[in-house]
Parts: sequence; C-alpha cells; structure tokens
Amino acid sequence: MNPHPPKPPETTVNVPRVKEKPSSVFKNTQAQYWDERYQSVPWAYGQEPNDFLLQEVESLGSLWGNFSGRRVLCLADGEGRNGVHLARLGFTVTCLDFSNQARAKALRWAEQCGVELDYPLVDLNGYEFEPQAWDLIVSIFFQPPAPTRERLYAGLSHALKDQGRFILEAKHDSTNAKSERYPGGLTLQQNIKPLQAVRVKDCVRTLNEGPFHQGSHQVTQLHAQKMA
Ligand SMILES: C[S@@+](CC[C@H](N)C(=O)[O-])C[C@H]1O[C@@H](n2cnc3c(N)ncnc32)[C@H](O)[C@@H]1O
Repeated sequence: MNPHPPKPPETTVNVPRVKEKPSSVFKNTQAQYWDERYQSVPWAYGQEPNDFLLQEVESLGSLWGNFSGRRVLCLADGEGRNGVHLARLGFTVTCLDFSNQARAKALRWAEQCGVELDYPLVDLNGYEFEPQAWDLIVSIFFQPPAPTRERLYAGLSHALKDQGRFILEAKHDSTNAKSERYPGGLTLQQNIKPLQAVRVKDCVRTLNEGPFHQGSHQVTQLHAQKMA
C-alpha cells in the first residue's frame, strides 16, 4: 500500500465566482456562514489532507494491509481534502457537511481525481449514525457546540465496527477549562467512551492548511479504537 499515491495531473478546480451571497440549503445562519467562507477562496483549508490524519492512516496501513473495501465516514469534511485523499488510498468514502458550496467543490475535485465520494448534505446537529457501519470515522477541525459533540461522540461506538477507529484533530483552548467547543483531550476521551485512546495529545503546533489554518495553534490530536 502506498500512503502517498501520485497526485492526479490536474488538481485545480475552477470554482465559479458569483457576486450574490450563496443561499444556503439549510436555512440557518451557520450553514450560510460556511457557504460564504467556501465561496470566498479557492481552497479554504488547502488541498492536502490533514497531516495528523495522514500519519495515523499510515499506521493503520501497516495494520490493515490495504484499505480496499474499508468504509470511512468523514464528519464535516468541507471541500473534501481528507475524503478525496482517503478515496485515493482505496477507502470507500462518505463525507458529511452542511455547506452546499463545500460539497460541490469536493465532488468536482473527486471527479477530477477519478474517485467517488458519497456526500450527502447533512446538518450534524441532528445526525444519527448508521449502526456498526464504519471501519474509520474522521473528525478534522469540526468543533461543534458541546451538546452536538457530546451526542455525536457518544454514538461513535455504536457506529463503528469492532476494532474500528476514530481519528480527530480539533482546536483546543487550554486557557479556558470550561471551553465548550475546544475542550482538549481529557474531555474528548470522556465524550468518546467506551472507545479507548490509542494516542492522545494536547499540543501547540504550526498549521499550514490553506488561508484559514495558518500559524501556531493549540490542538488536540486523538486516535481511538473500539474494542471488540
Ligand atoms: C474548519 S472546517 C473543517 C473542514 C474539513 N474537516 C477540513 O479539515 O478541511 C469545519 C467544517 O464543519 C462544517 N460544519 C460545522 N457545523 C456543521 C454542522 N452542524 N453540520 C454539518 N457540517 C458542519 C462546516 O461547514 C465546515 O465545513
């Protein structure tokens, strides 16, 4: 298995620029906020997959051999940088997000790369997981309000197959112990129970992921497993 397959010849998607504000499919201001962000730049978080995800999937490659037939669910995958990469590694990929603009870019890009993404538009505030369905669930820089995070992550064990994995990187605010959106590794480990952490780290690191993720940030990195 090659965790770094060659790039496709053409990775630039021409995103049509329109002057009007995007009218979000979801009639809420959050989805509209994200639609506007995704319309404002070609690639809000770049086209490279998140590097913590890359590293952890590489370690899964040594364990699983190859990813063909493995099902992965990418929560809030935006423009699809993680989903497209995982599809190119051989995973069968479902991405979820409520931004119509991001979804459209991701699907065009996947087509250019010759891979398929299943990408339903979903508001994760009310999302119910398919049971026992996923080998891997990915959450990269998705920081919902605490009630949504707690409800979703409490369902991870139900959603994953036995030995399934959960990989997360999220922003962390260590200056505020009660930070509800950016709580850090201790709280996240509580949220994902009974999954058990394979690796967990709160740290400061330099991000270089498109115009919206640049420079030094406090993050939490978590890789967890559903025990059989
Ligand atoms: C910081 S971006 C990260 C996107 C992607 N994971 C990445 O790393 O490139 C956060 C994403 O969460 C999505 N999002 C936020 N709240 C959501 C919700 N309630 N339902 C679905 N998507 C949501 C936004 O549309 C946005 O694409």
